Amino acid sequence: MKSIISIAFLLQSIINAVNLITAQFPTDPVFRCRDTGNYTTGSDYSRNLKSALNAVKYMNKYNGGSFSSFQGQKETAYVMALCSGVSINWGGNCKDCIYQLNVSLSVTCMLQKEAVMWGSNCMLHYSDRKIFGVLDDWVRIFLPDKKGSLANKPDQFDKALSDLMKKLQGLAAGGTDKKSALGTAVYEKKLVYGAMQCTADLSKDLCTKCLQNIIQAHHTCCSGRMAAIMLLPSCFFSYSGEHYSKWKT
Ligand SMILES: *[C@@H]1O[C@H](CO)[C@@H](O)[C@H](O)[C@H]1NC(C)=O
Ligand SMILES: *[C@@H]1O[C@H](CO)[C@@H](O)[C@H](O)[C@H]1NC(C)=O
Repeated sequence: MKSIISIAFLLQSIINAVNLITAQFPTDPVFRCRDTGNYTTGSDYSRNLKSALNAVKYMNKYNGGSFSSFQGQKETAYVMALCSGVSINWGGNCKDCIYQLNVSLSVTCMLQKEAVMWGSNCMLHYSDRKIFGVLDDWVRIFLPDKKGSLANKPDQFDKALSDLMKKLQGLAAGGTDKKSALGTAVYEKKLVYGAMQCTADLSKDLCTKCLQNIIQAHHTCCSGRMAAIMLLPSCFFSYSGEHYSKWKT
């Protein structure tokens, strides 16, 4: 009996985690165009970018949740796509997410050589420089939950979250093929769900460093906040307290 209860509890926790964490990625896409130069239509880069983006469409293996492609000898275009761990583990519609971003991309960062964007459970990043195996933190987007939910006991909440962040950092960075981790912390007898992930091309060391950026920034951006999303091109962290389930409204 006891084990049935704990299995039911576990399943419920997983479902909650999926709901909360998928709901935690930005509902409206977030874009950042990097102003390092523009290309012209018909240029080699333009063609290379087009075929690199097209290659992403036909990749059907979610290798560790991120896939990369590059095209061209000269004016090479590099593309990195990432599916959040939740969508890889539970078959979320990552492809749709990437497709949507790709559609907006041609409008939003038109003709810019580099851009990154995040959708409901994915990220798409392209550049004219090699972005594989490097720690990319040219843009950092920290989104504390807008509805302003602050923990009653911020110090206690932050302590629980800090322990969770360290745990997830180790698990995600230590992952072999998939650099993502999900986990929970307990605050006031309720769960706080967290997800951390690096693009799968990062070494353990670089993934650790990327997540370290986030851990260090957490206090400044989101201290005491019951939910937040923190996004870098190479890694992300999102979390949400169970007490707080209004993400979808
Ligand atoms: C590239 O194009 C964008 C949008 O049209 C513009 O804002 C930006 O200044 C341009 N960048 C350069 C380096 O020319
Ligand atoms: C992105 O859009 C281009 C142009 O419409 C298309 O050729 C390519 O296949 C698309 N890639 C993805 C990943 O949807």
